[in-house]
Amino acid sequence: MSYDVTLILGDGIGPEVINATKLILDSCPIKFNWDIVEAGESSIKKYGTPLPQNVIDSINRNKIALKGPVTTPIGTGFKSVNVTLRQTFDLYANIRPVKTIAGVPSKYDNVNLIIVRENSEDLYKGIEHMVGDDAAESIKIITRKASERIVDFAFNLAVKEKRKKVTSVHKANIMKCTDGLFLNCSRKVAQNYPEIVYEEMIVDAMSMKLVMSPEKYDVLVMPNLYGDILSDLAAGLVGGLGMVPGANIGNDIAIFEPVHGSAPDIAGQNKANPTAAILSSVMMLRYLGELDIADSIENALNLVLKQEEYKTFDMGGNTGTIEFAKAVIKELK
Ligand code: NAI
Repeated sequence: MSYDVTLILGDGIGPEVINATKLILDSCPIKFNWDIVEAGESSIKKYGTPLPQNVIDSINRNKIALKGPVTTPIGTGFKSVNVTLRQTFDLYANIRPVKTIAGVPSKYDNVNLIIVRENSEDLYKGIEHMVGDDAAESIKIITRKASERIVDFAFNLAVKEKRKKVTSVHKANIMKCTDGLFLNCSRKVAQNYPEIVYEEMIVDAMSMKLVMSPEKYDVLVMPNLYGDILSDLAAGLVGGLGMVPGANIGNDIAIFEPVHGSAPDIAGQNKANPTAAILSSVMMLRYLGELDIADSIENALNLVLKQEEYKTFDMGGNTGTIEFAKAVIKELK
């Protein structure tokens, strides 16, 4: 079997974690025809834009991409490439499984939840402007269509993954129209899944409860901004951003990428933990139906993570990104 996959290395630690992941995938008994394209800061220098048309064309052709993190300038500069890709291809569901892994230093030992983040609207529509010099306005868009489809996606995922509970996270006490609509859609969709427990939680209380007792949560569904923030919080429950993978899923296109960003503080030092990128590729393999290979990579990764000698710096060790990937390949064989 062979697959045509768009590969975006990204910025900062992106090329390091994605090349480490590619090394592992290329050692598997399936063939990937990588269409390597550039997006982000590196492509501005070369093409004058952070998102050249050939990236869009490649994803349209291949329908599947593995992507490293891309830097977004803060408070100025170009619109996020990540948000643009998600909106361009209507990748409406952002799935982020957050799971304790044996051997990874963490304060908790039994976290196993999935964050399902609405990926197409909310404040990420980017509709904002200055009102004179001293005020600014940003418009939050929540629609029935996008809310119902993400909540339905979350319940469907819960059924498929044999999960028991879906928690809808909101701030409808304050944003009665926007989050109120999201909540109403959650309640309506929940009625179609009587076998799954449905609960609601205000986002601030949710943050506290995730820190106090994360083991009580299963599938969490929420609008875009809360999903962005709670994903990083949840990563902190299982050893940090180096551990959590992600998938952006649309109707027929999917982009797999770690939750973490380009980590400029450790870029270019062979220090980044490639686990999140490797697990993103495992999600990609499952999406492609390559379940056995996905399982074997995940098992090999878990074996490496259990060994004291293979800890990257975020886990308190000094194994390099590439050496870590090579250890996974050794376990695979
Ligand atoms: P970040 O996720 O890049 O880094 C936060 C902290 O986590 C840093 O201390 C970093 O060293 C650490 N970290 C992240 N990934 C790691 C890994 N694999 N191994 C070890 N340590 C790791 O978040 P930050 O600094 O807020 O953002 C940097 C840039 O990344 C920004 O331009 C931001 O917009 C972009 N970004 C891009 C994303 C994407 O492409 N999907 C997602 C999040 C941020």
